[in-house]
Amino acid sequence: MNIDLSGVLYTQLKEYEKKYNDALAKNDLENVKKFALLCANTENQMAEKVPDQSKSHLEKAKKWNEIVRTAGSAPRKRVVETSGKGGGTDDDLSTFGDTLIQVSTVTWKDIGGLSEVKSLIMETVVIAGLSRPDSIKPDKGILLFGPPGTGKTLLAAAAAGSLKATFYNVKISSIISKYVGESSKLVTSLYESARNHAPSIVFIDELDSITMSRDDDQSEASRKVLASLLTELDGFQDKKSDKLILTLSATNTPGSLDDAVLSRFPKRIYIPLPDRKACMEIIRIQTKGLDISAVDLDQIGELCVNQRYSGRDLQNVCRDAMKSMTRRVNKDIFDNIENMAALSFEELQKKTLKSGPLAMDDFTRAIGRVKSPLMPEDLKKQEDWNKQFGAS
Ligand SMILES: Nc1ncnc2c1ncn2[C@@H]1O[C@H](COP(=O)(O)OP(=O)(O)OP(=O)(O)O)[C@@H](O)[C@H]1O
Ligand SMILES: [Mg+2]
Repeated sequence: MNIDLSGVLYTQLKEYEKKYNDALAKNDLENVKKFALLCANTENQMAEKVPDQSKSHLEKAKKWNEIVRTAGSAPRKRVVETSGKGGGTDDDLSTFGDTLIQVSTVTWKDIGGLSEVKSLIMETVVIAGLSRPDSIKPDKGILLFGPPGTGKTLLAAAAAGSLKATFYNVKISSIISKYVGESSKLVTSLYESARNHAPSIVFIDELDSITMSRDDDQSEASRKVLASLLTELDGFQDKKSDKLILTLSATNTPGSLDDAVLSRFPKRIYIPLPDRKACMEIIRIQTKGLDISAVDLDQIGELCVNQRYSGRDLQNVCRDAMKSMTRRVNKDIFDNIENMAALSFEELQKKTLKSGPLAMDDFTRAIGRVKSPLMPEDLKKQEDWNKQFGAS
């Protein structure tokens, strides 16, 4: 979430995270522990190098250490292939590489605005997690819809991060297009794995890719994928189980959802663009650890709403503003960039990039540069659809 000015460590961290995810996907416990530990150590180093953000890095280091600790005590079983139809293994899923199973360190606090949506998902998670009378059934799956960059993926990641659940991040289009013949088996494998790694949050992105109107391979695969998906969703609701597997799905073109898909997702929540207050909250989150006391957030929030910014646009604005600040407070480096670029990597590592207070100008200039891709009519379409089909 936070922008880290210590690029080298950041790159290293990303590499360790990737290796950690690879190991997790393969159930390679030894490497899961090894790379989680390396992530923890790197976060600790980042806490030292970037004092402004030390609290957040120390928190992340703590989470990684927790993963190291629990990875040993609760080894994750390899899924054993069951005979006949419906059997699936993690090996089937490994074709997706490291993007499928993830560890989420996102929490509810990382999300600005959307308080009603957050409460609603929290409620669903709590009801699904609690022991309850048979008559009370948790939601089968929740559909999140809205313009791009408004926090749909972030919400699913926060649900997983807060629960310390395994996070399956799946683009349905990749299941359908790459593995046409295997599609339904992959869905079964996905849920088989989710059951084995419970508690799990299964996030199914680009739900609109399930289209059945055409008469081709793609539609045939879509039909099978949808049938398997519905079987899994129904199965979880009906089976009495102490395992939590919650499916969240997302689209930014709800109007193109197939009726058959829509009818099976009765809970449909609109994730709108942030209002002024939410913009202010998102800016605070995105600049956590930095001094923004000189910035009139009310005024910036207003400008951002007028620009039709999403959370992603706000993230870009903050990044741009931080870049301006970095250039300003590190004049010695940036006025001398050619000489700096001639230094060896080791020599560069010995120097530190300073951080300073953000100025109002940093933001107003950034707002001039970041353009929202949305037109008013795009938003109207989403809002109209929400009025007609949205249901929470
Ligand atoms: N409500 C929010 N609070 C804080 N950050 C946000 C929020 N919404 C978006 N962001 C920032 O924007 C980035 C993109 O958000 P996210 O990926 O969740 O959008 P999305 O709705 O899933 O978009 P898409 O429809 O394109 O998949 C996040 O990683 C985060 O940095
Ligand atoms: Mg997304």
